[in-house]
Amino acid sequence: MEANAPIRIGVAGLGTVGTSLVRMVARHGNDLAVRSGRPIVISGVCARDRGKDRDIDVSGMEWFDDPVALARDPGNDIFVELIGGSEGPARASVEAALSTGKHVVTANKALLAEHGNELARLAEGADASLNFEAAAAGGIPIIKTLREALAGNTVSRIYGILNGTSNYILSRMEQDHIGFEECLAEAQRLGYAEADPSFDIGGQDAAHKLALLTSIAFGTEVDGEAIYVEGISSITSADIEAADELGYRIKLLGVACRTDSGIEQRVHPTMVPRSSAIARIDGVTNAVAIEADFVGQLVLSGPGAGGDATASSVMSDIADIARGDRVGTFGRPASDLEPYRRAGMRTH
Ligand code: NDP
Ligand code: HSE
Repeated sequence: MEANAPIRIGVAGLGTVGTSLVRMVARHGNDLAVRSGRPIVISGVCARDRGKDRDIDVSGMEWFDDPVALARDPGNDIFVELIGGSEGPARASVEAALSTGKHVVTANKALLAEHGNELARLAEGADASLNFEAAAAGGIPIIKTLREALAGNTVSRIYGILNGTSNYILSRMEQDHIGFEECLAEAQRLGYAEADPSFDIGGQDAAHKLALLTSIAFGTEVDGEAIYVEGISSITSADIEAADELGYRIKLLGVACRTDSGIEQRVHPTMVPRSSAIARIDGVTNAVAIEADFVGQLVLSGPGAGGDATASSVMSDIADIARGDRVGTFGRPASDLEPYRRAGMRTH
C-alpha cells in the first residue's frame, strides 16, 4: 500500500454491523483520514439482497453479489467480513482474501473460534493481517488491552459477561418481570442477537469469545472445543427471585484461568454477590475482568453488542492496518515455544 494513498475497503455483509460501518465512514470520513494517516474509502460492498432498503448511501461503491469475488477483487486493500457463521460464505471469503495476501478485519467470533488457528497460519504465510477487535465484547477494546496495554503482564484469570443478549434477557426478566421469550424477541429486534439466537442463549457465543480471549491472554492456540458450555435457556423467573432473596444476581459468565493442569475455560450461569462490580452490569452491557501480576485487577465494561458499538471496534482494526500497525493473530502451539523455553525465556 502506498503511503498516504486512500485505503480501500470491501465490506461483505450490510446488516446490523455493516450498515453502521458504512454510516460511520460517511459521517467521520475526514477525522478517520487524520487518525489513520490516509483517507478511508469503501470501494465495494456485498450482501444477499441488492434490492433491500438499508437506509445507507452506497453510491460510488461497487456492488458484489458474491463475497468471494469481493474478497479477491484488487479494487480493495482490506476485506471486512460482516456476514457471520463459521462456514459458508464467511469462511470462503476470508480464506480467499487471505490467500491473495489481502488484510482481513472480521467481527465473526464463530469463524475464529472454530477455524482461527488455520486462518492465522494462512495470514502469516501471506504476510497479511487478520484483525478481530469486534469479535469479543462488541465495543470494548479488550483485544487491544490484552495485547498492547497489558503486554508486560502475566494474566492469571480473565472472566466476565461476554454475551449482550443473555445479559439483556436476565436483566429485563429481573427488573421488568418480562418473560424469557419476550425479552429474547426484543434483543433480536434491537440487533443484539445472532442470526441463530440459540448461540446466544445456549452459551456458544460467549464460548466463542472466551476462546479468543483465552488465546490472547494466555498465549495459547484457540481451543473452543475445550470449553464447558451451559447457557441461560433453563433459567426461570423463580431462579432469579431465589438468587435475589439470598443476595445474588444470576449472570452468564465466561471464565478462563491458569491452573496446575493447564488453562481451564468455562461458560455457565453463575450466582454473583449483589455487591460485586459484575452484578451491577445490566442490559446489553458486557464486562471483562482481568487479573494479572503487575497491573493487579482491572474491569472493562461497555456495550457488548449493537451495530454502532461493534462498528467502532471494526474501524479501530481498519485504522491500525491503515497506519501499518501489525499484530500477531493468536498464541502459539506449545511446540513453537520450545526454543524460547530452552533459552530460559518465559513464554507467557
Ligand atoms: P446481520 O444478520 O444483521 O447481517 C448479515 C449480513 O450478511 C446481511 O447484510 C446479509 O445480506 C449478508 N449475507 C448473508 N449471507 C450472505 C451471502 N451468502 N452473500 C452475501 N451476503 C450475505 O448480522 P450482523 O451485522 O448482526 O453480524 C455480522 C457479524 O458480526 C456476525 O459475525 C456477528 O456474530 C458479528 N457481531 C455482531 C454483533 C451485533 O451486535 N449484531 C456484535 C459483534 C459481532 P442481506 O442483508 O441481503 O440479507
Ligand atoms: N449476539 C452477540 C451478543 C453480539 O449478544 O453479545 C455481540 O457479539
